[in-house]
Amino acid sequence: MYHRYHSQLVDMYRNLRHKPYFRPSLYVCIIFSSVYVLYHIAYSRPASNSLPFDFSEGFLPLEDVSEEVWAERANQVKLAFLHAYHGYERYALPHDELKPLTGGYQDNFNGWGVTLFDSLDTMLLLGFQNEYKRALPIVERATFELPEERHAPYFETVIRYLGGLLSAHAISKDPILLDKADELADKLDSVFNTPSGFPLFGVNPSSGSVVGPDIGVLAEMASLQMEYTMLAKSTGKKRWWDRANTVIRALANADLRYTGGMFPIKWNLTTAQPHDVHLSVGAQADSAHEYLLKQFLLTARTDKASLEMYLRATTHVIANLIYVSPTRHLLYVTDTDTSPYEKRATPSHNFEHLSCFFPGLLALGAHTLPLDNLESLGINFESLGSESKFGHAGKAYKLLSQYNLKDLHLWAAEGIAETCWLTYADMPTGLGPDEVTMYTEKRSEGYLWMDAMERWRASGSRGIPPGTGDKDPVVYTEQERLRGGNRRRDYAIRRKKYLLRPETLESLYIMWRVTGDSKWRNRGWRIFEALERHTKTPYGYASLRTTEVVPPSKEDDMPSYFLAETLKYLYLMFTNEDPISLDKWVFNTEAHPFPVFEWTEEEKERFSI
Ligand SMILES: *[C@@H]1O[C@H](CO)[C@@H](O)[C@H](O)[C@H]1NC(C)=O
Repeated sequence: MYHRYHSQLVDMYRNLRHKPYFRPSLYVCIIFSSVYVLYHIAYSRPASNSLPFDFSEGFLPLEDVSEEVWAERANQVKLAFLHAYHGYERYALPHDELKPLTGGYQDNFNGWGVTLFDSLDTMLLLGFQNEYKRALPIVERATFELPEERHAPYFETVIRYLGGLLSAHAISKDPILLDKADELADKLDSVFNTPSGFPLFGVNPSSGSVVGPDIGVLAEMASLQMEYTMLAKSTGKKRWWDRANTVIRALANADLRYTGGMFPIKWNLTTAQPHDVHLSVGAQADSAHEYLLKQFLLTARTDKASLEMYLRATTHVIANLIYVSPTRHLLYVTDTDTSPYEKRATPSHNFEHLSCFFPGLLALGAHTLPLDNLESLGINFESLGSESKFGHAGKAYKLLSQYNLKDLHLWAAEGIAETCWLTYADMPTGLGPDEVTMYTEKRSEGYLWMDAMERWRASGSRGIPPGTGDKDPVVYTEQERLRGGNRRRDYAIRRKKYLLRPETLESLYIMWRVTGDSKWRNRGWRIFEALERHTKTPYGYASLRTTEVVPPSKEDDMPSYFLAETLKYLYLMFTNEDPISLDKWVFNTEAHPFPVFEWTEEEKERFSI
């Protein structure tokens, strides 16, 4: 699309420039537009000094409401799902995603109808049997073919299509869904043709030809374990189990001396060893860390190697990647480059919306694991960080073992989830930007969270731990925003879009379930109201170009994860039932719930558990 549009413009320009009137008209154009721009710079004023938005209720206490009101709110999410899905069904199906401003469509994930596959289990959960019945024949007809020159991006195909099919199958037991999942995995399988057994970037499902660099990206090569063990469990096929297990073994055997036991982003797909020292829980890394805990939980706590890797990753993050901002004491997780020769990592102080899944992950771990009694699992915390295997990591284990690990994980979860919420509450739209950069004007050692925690502990642990507790939103007036230079909010916006992403809601949902504190649920409602107010279109819901201006301008884009994840977590947060208990189900990274395994003796033998 873009290419064709672009070349038309070029042709138009080429034709025009040879006309005799071309140059004079060009000059006239330039002069007039310059005058216009200068006039506006000189005379424009912000419309008024008052807050330019109707989010002022964000400052009011978030009131508790009755169960009936929550039931009605859950119902409103169901209506939102129908609006989005019917728009997709009517204007975009069988293509991938709806264009919510123009009623068009785009094929950005293989053109097999990704929104439909991604929505199946949400339909079942919300009770939309009619939509589900209309979708099934389309699933049945899917052939998962691509023209010779095109390749399916493996990671996205697995988490959206394969994850969607497996989850819908776990809920409905419709055999066609499992048949299709098995067929899809079969067609993608040549992607594992690497010496390490890590998948390459992409594969043509028809010919089996593969593409991708020798250097793989962590999230893309290590977020398949849940889907493949689920597929193995459901089909009984050991070959799928082996695909997951190869990845888990390779991760467990990697040389992590230079990164203190945490996985960096880049990996050599030949050697199965790290290729850089860039550490992050955000883009390109996120779900690989997520799947460590979730793989342990999904396998009914049999995959202990994944649990140990989870404890190493979180220990490194807590000791090195979590910081406190100077004014409001916002807790945030950032990314670093760890030099093998330096003790301390160099942080970017960027904080990504994508990283907002992380507080939910920590809370899920604190809820499900005996973090304050790891011995009961046969794990000695301090020996997880052995110096010979993980470089200078030992210090972090000594430091963290001064604390009750369950409390520490929950405090980090609470503090970071609060910051994720504030990046929404600080915006006049009530929706959060995609990435911010935290200010560090008084840059000092003190802003590493564990340093602040150590001072707190040394002072007798009085008051709440640093970085935790409720903080007030800071919404700049339009004038303040335009003038700039205001630092009360503690951060500058680095990417101002809101892409209908789920991560903050995901964490609010888990915080609500784990702590039972209704403030998290109330905040979820505020976000839903903002979604309805600012992203809804006649056809569906649209991403925003900015969260900072009301009304915000929209993008012609409704990602399938909005139906798979964002709306699902909202519904689960508001409904008074608990249909997907965190103790009995585990969400894949696209929010497709898989039931925790119940092993039979025969299965344990087959998969060597
Ligand atoms: C990956 O490792 C192999 C084997 O050691 C090596 O030959 C290759 O150059 C490495 N790839 C890159 C891009 O460094």
